Amino acid sequence: MTWALECGACGRGADLHLATLCPECAKPLLAIYPLAKLDGAGLRRRWETRAPGPWRYREIMPIREHEQPVTLGEGATPLIPVEPGGELAGLDVLVKDEGMNPTGSFKDRGMGAAVTRASLDGVDHFTAPSAGNAGAALAAFAARAVAKAHVFVPSDIPEGVLRRCRHYGATWDAVDGLIDECGRRSAEYSAETGAFNVSTLKEPYRIEGKKTMMLEIAQALGWRLPDAVVYPTGGGTGLIGSHKAASELRALGLVSGNCRLYSVQAAGCAPIVDAWNAGASAASAWADAHTEAWGLRVPSAIGDFLILRAIRESGGGAIAVDDGSMREGARELGSLGVGAAIEGGAAMVAARRLAARGELKTGETVVLFNTAHLLTY
Ligand SMILES: Cc1ncc(COP(=O)(O)O)c(C=O)c1O
Repeated sequence: MTWALECGACGRGADLHLATLCPECAKPLLAIYPLAKLDGAGLRRRWETRAPGPWRYREIMPIREHEQPVTLGEGATPLIPVEPGGELAGLDVLVKDEGMNPTGSFKDRGMGAAVTRASLDGVDHFTAPSAGNAGAALAAFAARAVAKAHVFVPSDIPEGVLRRCRHYGATWDAVDGLIDECGRRSAEYSAETGAFNVSTLKEPYRIEGKKTMMLEIAQALGWRLPDAVVYPTGGGTGLIGSHKAASELRALGLVSGNCRLYSVQAAGCAPIVDAWNAGASAASAWADAHTEAWGLRVPSAIGDFLILRAIRESGGGAIAVDDGSMREGARELGSLGVGAAIEGGAAMVAARRLAARGELKTGETVVLFNTAHLLTY
């Protein structure tokens, strides 16, 4: 069984081999599987008996029958029931603890899938811009694939982040500027050296890795979607992937109903929230982006229209929270036993506000994404 690629904006198809952006409009490509030809019940039985991790769902992942993935035991992260009380009393709140991935963040899922596909197609040199976690994940998976990795990071990110890249043998450039400037440098480096660029949504498979979070959640809930997910959003791969996973499971007849997706951004960098509030279908670049949540400091996302579409189609919403509140949210998760990064704290505090506004309701099952471990910074 193989898949096809289709542009998320204009719908045009693209060649599978080392695909990047749509050849027509330079927007992100999405992987499309022949779901109507697959037997959902049969797949469910297979998936349940395979070893846990993203590749248990291989029939809807970018891998062919006899190929082997590049893996470090990523995924299969805990879904922890918590009882935060207050506005969230009476809701079933679960934390998907992505800090438990090999390099400490959910970036392992996306990079695992992207490095797998590209190295199966012959790539042995990678590049990406990173706020930190993606760089560490790329470094680790490239090491596992016996490939080189060169990352471009903003010069003001914490030293601990660079230490992780160094540990896995990656090289890097510290750039005066934000992630968008790092993205430009990474694209130039790719053009000069032939390194394959695995920048967010500039190739189609990081989404595929990230979608496995939602596949795992549905499986853990007995093939049911949660009522809502609260997701700290930067480039949006996780949110777009979660929406894609829910649609694919519905198409396979394995779940019914809907999961509302709520995007949380930092008050100092909230282009998606602004666009959502304005009813727009694309976001404007955010000037003077600032937040301590490095993963959320993304002033303009190439997949803005896909993020906004996922929120709209799922009936969710978007909300901004300031850094002080995120820190409190992370401390609250700590008090519940979860070692959360500040981005996870953003999800916690956003969930409280959404419940106070009546957007999350008593009796609902709500999943908060802790996207990275406390120790990653
Ligand atoms: C810890 C953390 N949370 C959230 C994000 C945002 O992820 P996405 O690009 O999937 O929106 C990032 C991205 O760098 C991150 O490192």
